[in-house]
Amino acid sequence: MKKIVVGLAVVLGFCMCTHKPSGTLDVNKALDYCAKQTQRTLTELETDSGIDYTMMPRNIMADEQHWNCRKATKEEWCAGFWPGVLWYDYEYTKDKQVLEEAENFTHSLKFLSHIPAYDHDLGFLVFCSYGNGYRLTKNPAYKQVILDTADTLATLFNPIVGTILSWPREVEPRNWPHNTIMDNMINLEMLFWAAKNGGNPYLYDIAVSHADKTMKSQFRTDYTSYHVAVYDTITGNLIKGVTHQGYADSTMWARGQAWAIYGYTVVYRETKDPKYLDFAQKVTDVYLDRLPEDKVPYWDFDDPSIPNAPRDASAGAVVASALLELSTYLPNGTGKRYKDAAIEMLTSLSSDSYQSGESKPSFLLHSVGHWPNHSEIDASIIYADYYYIEALLRLKRLQEGYGVLG
Ligand code: GLY
Repeated sequence: MKKIVVGLAVVLGFCMCTHKPSGTLDVNKALDYCAKQTQRTLTELETDSGIDYTMMPRNIMADEQHWNCRKATKEEWCAGFWPGVLWYDYEYTKDKQVLEEAENFTHSLKFLSHIPAYDHDLGFLVFCSYGNGYRLTKNPAYKQVILDTADTLATLFNPIVGTILSWPREVEPRNWPHNTIMDNMINLEMLFWAAKNGGNPYLYDIAVSHADKTMKSQFRTDYTSYHVAVYDTITGNLIKGVTHQGYADSTMWARGQAWAIYGYTVVYRETKDPKYLDFAQKVTDVYLDRLPEDKVPYWDFDDPSIPNAPRDASAGAVVASALLELSTYLPNGTGKRYKDAAIEMLTSLSSDSYQSGESKPSFLLHSVGHWPNHSEIDASIIYADYYYIEALLRLKRLQEGYGVLG
């Protein structure tokens, strides 16, 4: 019997065998679960000499039980998510110990506000940590860190192309003179925020220019996205659209599309220009139309090994969070469709198929970091947890009749 089960697992590969989400999602129960897992992680990080606040939980591989932590350096793009998780958990629990730990981990990222930009990830790093910290505490020192970091991010903007250079380090080795990745859409939020909170108004113009050029150049006619747009620095024109983390240049990498959905929702929020609302729906619809039954995407929608390809819970969490916001900008019928889709996604993610449960201290299993590099395949990854708890809090606010953003 055991042999048959093992044989079946090999044949099925990563097949989750999950079905249409069923049951009602209990948001408080899911947030209580996150609070419990957060405490487990804090306990795990404690050593005889205390917690090293410069070491951020990053991932737990499928065959592991404990967090692999990475030093908060300028190269570690995920270092802001754990402080962000702590801020969200504090927002829910009001636990003073969690607040203190959120402050401690957040502080480890201050250096980013006074060094030259390494790449575009400054928004992920500083807005998830300091941004949430400022939203909840109004600590003026946090505000200054965000404003300074936004100015740093703006140094990567190329006015000839009209977008931010996402990866300066890839210019020479890959001959990508000016490269912009879809993930970069998320980092516009910090620019918009800075422009309306005492920063240079030019930051708003940069963010809008980036969104416009990306809309024009980095999507196919069916509204699926290229992960990377490579531009000519003399003419500003697109040279080619390629992938870095997806299956192929022509495929829809799930998290790339998720960043697009989230990004254009934010651009609409900040500009109120209906063209972004329309575009956010278009990039969402092509994603929703092609989801498997449980609403959690395969890591790349065009991986030929589907249904045996791994899922990407992180993309599922990013999109659930984005759609809850998007739903509030639309008339009842359309808005409800997106809200219902988000609830279905969160219902699946909150099931035993995706929650780590007792097995490990992360919130979620089954994310894919970088398939072409064979790294973080079917793993727990900290950004999946970040967007999962963000989405749950957004849903809780909506259910209680508050604004989605808090
Ligand atoms: N920003 C890199 C990723 O989404 O994996």
